[in-house]
Amino acid sequence: MRVLSGIQPSGRLHLGNYFGAMRQHLALQADNEALYFIANYHALTSLTDSKLVRQYTLDVALDYLALGLDPKRTIFFRQSDVPEVTELAWILSCVTPMGLLERCVSYKDKLAKGLAPNHGLFAYPVLQAADILIYRSELVPVGADQKQHIEVTRDIAVKFNQLYGETLVVPEAHILAETAVVPGIDGQKMSKSYDNTIELFAEPGEVRKRVMRIVTDSTPVESPKDPQTCNVFALLKLLAAPQETADWAARYRAGGTGYGEAKKRLAELIADRFAEPREKRKELEKDPAYVEDVLSDGGRRARAVAAPVMDDVREATGIVVAKAQGAA
Ligand code: ADP
Ligand code: TRP
Repeated sequence: MRVLSGIQPSGRLHLGNYFGAMRQHLALQADNEALYFIANYHALTSLTDSKLVRQYTLDVALDYLALGLDPKRTIFFRQSDVPEVTELAWILSCVTPMGLLERCVSYKDKLAKGLAPNHGLFAYPVLQAADILIYRSELVPVGADQKQHIEVTRDIAVKFNQLYGETLVVPEAHILAETAVVPGIDGQKMSKSYDNTIELFAEPGEVRKRVMRIVTDSTPVESPKDPQTCNVFALLKLLAAPQETADWAARYRAGGTGYGEAKKRLAELIADRFAEPREKRKELEKDPAYVEDVLSDGGRRARAVAAPVMDDVREATGIVVAKAQGAA
């Protein structure tokens, strides 16, 4: 199956990105034709510091490679290395009803958080649709917050096909229920834009500091506690083995265990789980030329997949470009 997903280089990646998306991306590379990209055009909707855009783009690349993305098997690339995607985004814009975008919760959330409502932010789901449709992707593994964007993509593809004939593949979202929404240290969805993250590659001391700040209720140590409503437990169960998770749930319910103890264990589990990738990332950081090679090679391969689809879209819509310009 052709699998595709993207992550914005808009900050340091965190446990929500890992458990909600990256872990699935890595698992799916084995038996599928996978394409994963760094959504740098999308990042421009919220980030205007060019140094940071460049830095975070490299960071996302290092993070994926350190976590085990295999660039031989998987096509790993920068969104901007396939410029046809912005061309397709324009064409899709012309078949996208305004109402479809006006209903997008993620746009409304961003406005509520005080982001300036620029056109890019509004049109964000159309560019995302182009990302997905230009590779005729079948499966899109994402966290639950992206479900609506995949539905918008499906609507756009269906509308395009109705207007112009069967050209685009209508994709499916792939969302794992148990990690659909990973909470941040304040209990809201963990997100780069909410300053509530635990970074994947932070040093153990830093992880511990963040974990100690996780918001809990004020139930005294001796009283029974409900694991289901606790932010510490929600993260702990993602990292601990099933038996250990069951033990912690029992200890919560019995009373006599403080949140501090669970936090200490959680910090250890995080530090241990990412110890090896952390070392690997340090090695990769010393070789930026290798990372650049991986991304530019990925870009070439992705462009080769996109080019014939773009040709079909131009043909279907009556857009003519001179031969040399249209070729990848
Ligand atoms: P952020 O919200 O931190 O900016 P992105 O929007 O770049 O993250 O998300 C990249 C991927 O990670 C998406 O597939 C998204 O659904 C997933 N993701 C992000 N945060 C979480 C979370 N807290 N829980 C589950 N998945 C998440
Ligand atoms: N909007 C996605 C996010 O914030 C990132 C993204 C851009 C994406 N294009 C995509 C995800 C295409 C999946 C497929 O997480």
